[in-house]
Amino acid sequence: MTELDQAARQILRGNDLGGYTVPTAGLYPFQWNWDSCLVALGWATFDEARAWAEIDSLLSAQWDDGMVPHIVFHKPSPTYFPGPDVWGTGRTPPTSGITQPPVAATVVRRLLETATDTALAEAKARSMLPKLFAWHRWFHTQRDPHGEGLVGIIHPWETGRDNAADWDAAMAAVPTEGVGEYQRRDLQHVDADQRPKKVDYDRYLYMVKHGREAGWNPDGLHDSAPFCVADIGINALLLRADRDLAALARRFGDGGAAASLESWIVRSEAGLQRLWHDGDGTYRSLDRKTGALVDASGSGAFLMLTADAAPADRRDRLLAMMDRWLAAVPYGVPSLAPADPRFDAKRYWRGPCWLVVNYLIADGCIGAGRSDLAERLRADSRAMVEKSGFWEYFDPTDGAGLGGDNFTWTAAMWLAWAGQ
Ligand code: GLC
Repeated sequence: MTELDQAARQILRGNDLGGYTVPTAGLYPFQWNWDSCLVALGWATFDEARAWAEIDSLLSAQWDDGMVPHIVFHKPSPTYFPGPDVWGTGRTPPTSGITQPPVAATVVRRLLETATDTALAEAKARSMLPKLFAWHRWFHTQRDPHGEGLVGIIHPWETGRDNAADWDAAMAAVPTEGVGEYQRRDLQHVDADQRPKKVDYDRYLYMVKHGREAGWNPDGLHDSAPFCVADIGINALLLRADRDLAALARRFGDGGAAASLESWIVRSEAGLQRLWHDGDGTYRSLDRKTGALVDASGSGAFLMLTADAAPADRRDRLLAMMDRWLAAVPYGVPSLAPADPRFDAKRYWRGPCWLVVNYLIADGCIGAGRSDLAERLRADSRAMVEKSGFWEYFDPTDGAGLGGDNFTWTAAMWLAWAGQ
């Protein structure tokens, strides 16, 4: 074990609040959905039971309608805003009212297939199957109410790429009336130039207000939301997770679930092709309010490789775009096209690199026959941690660490992938 391996384990242990791991102390003091799933991969490298506990704890907060919330507020904390009272979901434990990228099924399959304690893994994966299936069904019904083969998100936070340029135009149409005065907490932990702007926050809170006033009843929320986008990233990850969940359903003899998943897979494979942007040779998100593709090419498109969802000619153009981006910066993958005038090497999802995204994309590169690209992403990820430490995200122009420090999913990606 290297010193960095030890430090990474120590970060997981230090951020463990008892069965769940917070992303980092202070800035994110609760359980986050896709963080926990990806962090389970890190736990599994030295404590498989703890890895399963992480996902169990997330799924314990699942809503009756199947949604798995994006934040679970297990214990109160004054260091984060907006907290449970602002969300007003009335759940026990309190949760937010929106979801996050569904990577759980992909992680569960991976944990099962690499387990050394196979009896535990079989029992855990089997018990999680119906819960994961209910979540995926919620996505394909409540978030695709018109059966278009694309799910919609009603808040940028659902995508996990909070302030990506993908949302700029759709966000500009969101009003801010009635949001009132509030005090952000994130700026007490991180420099303002590395975080979203005030006008973004006003709109984020307006969307929360809309959901709260609708009682978070999923029926109709997709259509009434002031913001609704078919995000390329979440749709690609959902398709990948549907494939993984279908494999689990077949393994555990649940023919009914497998059949439903197969039909969603076929529908999504077709739906996703509507997001093709021929000019840039990439896939883009679609603004459901206007019916137009968004005006930004971001890293979410590369998740189409992870989903194995692009026909060969489109896949090759997408890979060519990645080659261009990686030629433009020393550390990849930037979250926004380096040539985009909005590219900002330090601001959150408008330029910086994220290890979790690199990990997911690298997996897709291998499937696409580009192990060289997968290796570049791993080497870059490794180099950024070696140079700067376990930061939340990194500057693609110099590998400097940004955002929160001692960050759990960065440490987990080191243990499960980049450092190995
Ligand atoms: C930010 C990120 C999101 C992540 C969360 C906790 O909101 O954009 O992807 O899940 O922080 O780390």
